[in-house]
Amino acid sequence: MATVKANDLRGAVQTLKAHFKSGAPKNMRAAFAEDPKRFSRYSLSLDDLLLDWSKCLVNDETLSLLADLAKIAHVEARRDAMFAGEPINNTEGRAVLHVALRNRSNKPVKVDGVDVMPGVNDVLKRMGAYADGLRSGAIKGSKNKPITDVVNIGIGGSDLGPAMATLALSPYHDGPKTHFVSNVDGAHIADTLKDLDPATTLIIIASKTFTTIETMTNARAARKWIADALGEKAVGQHFAAVSTALDKVDAFGIPADRIFGFWDWVGGRYSIWSAIGLPLMIAIGPENFGRFLDGAHAMDEHFRKAALSRNLPMMLGLVGYWHRAISGYTSRAVIPYDQRLARLPAYLQQLDMESNGKGVTVDGKPVSGPTGPVVWGEPGTNGQHAFFQLLHQGTDTIPLEFIVAAKGHEPHLDNQHEMLLANCLAQSEALMKGRTLEEAKAQLTAKNLPKSEVNRIAPHRVFKGNRPSITIVYDKLDPYALGRLIALYEHRVFVEAQLFGINAFDQWGVELGKELATELLPIVSGEAKPKDKDASTQGLVAHLRKRRGK
Ligand code: F6P
Repeated sequence: MATVKANDLRGAVQTLKAHFKSGAPKNMRAAFAEDPKRFSRYSLSLDDLLLDWSKCLVNDETLSLLADLAKIAHVEARRDAMFAGEPINNTEGRAVLHVALRNRSNKPVKVDGVDVMPGVNDVLKRMGAYADGLRSGAIKGSKNKPITDVVNIGIGGSDLGPAMATLALSPYHDGPKTHFVSNVDGAHIADTLKDLDPATTLIIIASKTFTTIETMTNARAARKWIADALGEKAVGQHFAAVSTALDKVDAFGIPADRIFGFWDWVGGRYSIWSAIGLPLMIAIGPENFGRFLDGAHAMDEHFRKAALSRNLPMMLGLVGYWHRAISGYTSRAVIPYDQRLARLPAYLQQLDMESNGKGVTVDGKPVSGPTGPVVWGEPGTNGQHAFFQLLHQGTDTIPLEFIVAAKGHEPHLDNQHEMLLANCLAQSEALMKGRTLEEAKAQLTAKNLPKSEVNRIAPHRVFKGNRPSITIVYDKLDPYALGRLIALYEHRVFVEAQLFGINAFDQWGVELGKELATELLPIVSGEAKPKDKDASTQGLVAHLRKRRGK
């Protein structure tokens, strides 16, 4: 594979930094006033999916310099290597092939010379048959009652994807109710199970490794709940599992026909397309799940084939890099004006921050500039009444990503959808335009306020504006649109990772905390002494043990 020349890369970054200082637009209002074609120049579509970055401080030269950087960083070559099944996750020696899970063309995808597609199709088929059986009531619980509730026990990528997507696609949810338990806090599983009937509940244990402490602890609690209510023999009929560690699942006592496998070339945060999507498939049915995969595949094909300047994930990645690495913005807010995407920000937090929150390059050298930003957000309009004050008038600039459907699912509430749209557009307009002191004074004067009052209040009503935002619009939040949207974000994270020069597909940063938690458990429970711990940890342990009466 082509190697990135550090000097060329450094040079391109320096050129971009110089361009940021002089060359890039400084004032968005002026940029729009000067160029009536700014929207068409800085937006792209793929069918009904529109990406608009015209409200960002970029011009043709910015994009051309970013494209130069992408060439030097071999973004397209690395993309092709990913699709070709090369082991681009170099610290774990693995291919990265979530795209194979939604490869609807069914063209062979080889890992070490072996086509993975027959295995992918086989699991999908088994998932479909199992989901259909549950949905129709043909597959029953131990008391011969149909399954009414499915509880998915998993965490991180084994939870956030199906939880986010099941909520997003609630208009298509016609199967059993689904519940998601992730936290090791016993409150989570207790609150979830308390209203459920064990006789009509299926528990899915979802864990790539089948070792994650939170998941295995909750799985044991759920197993006891089933066994206590229905007897030990009933466990097999009330559990299913999704994992790459088939031997460990077997040891847990789950029958082979209820085990759905996947592969080490599927990263946890990229696994919604695999058997990890089982609860989603049970909720919306195999056909709709297939549409979800179709949407992602359409984005994959676009990402693979469209020229860089016409390529949505490339442009989203380039502008994201511009904001983070060149403009120096440390976070980005993702604001879906779509209540059903309420869990999308949390999902994207793992996708983006676990992928690109790295401090060393692919070669293990310290990175020379910033890497992934903090990703956060809440649905609009709720966010407007909570944190938008800071986004409009606070001292930090935080780029926003607005996500909105042209049409809602509730025709009888279309007036509310119009209000939602108006709010979404109003926010990006306000962030872009702002309000000058003169405008604030003129408004107050028009209200007949005395001049002294106008002068006193006006500074508080000034909005600096010039705050960048990207808007993403699709027709309707259906399975296809959701699949395409998630794949867009996955590939954007990939593009940014190549520009940062990091491996987006490992996650060593979660290890240390896990190791220390294992070490601390016997200390917290009093079986071991905290003698080697720092004073703060020792003090906290002592306080907690005292308060717990131990
Ligand atoms: O938090 C680290 C992590 O490994 C994530 O990458 C992963 O999605 C999550 O834990 C759950 O892992 P598993 O599916 O193996 O239980």
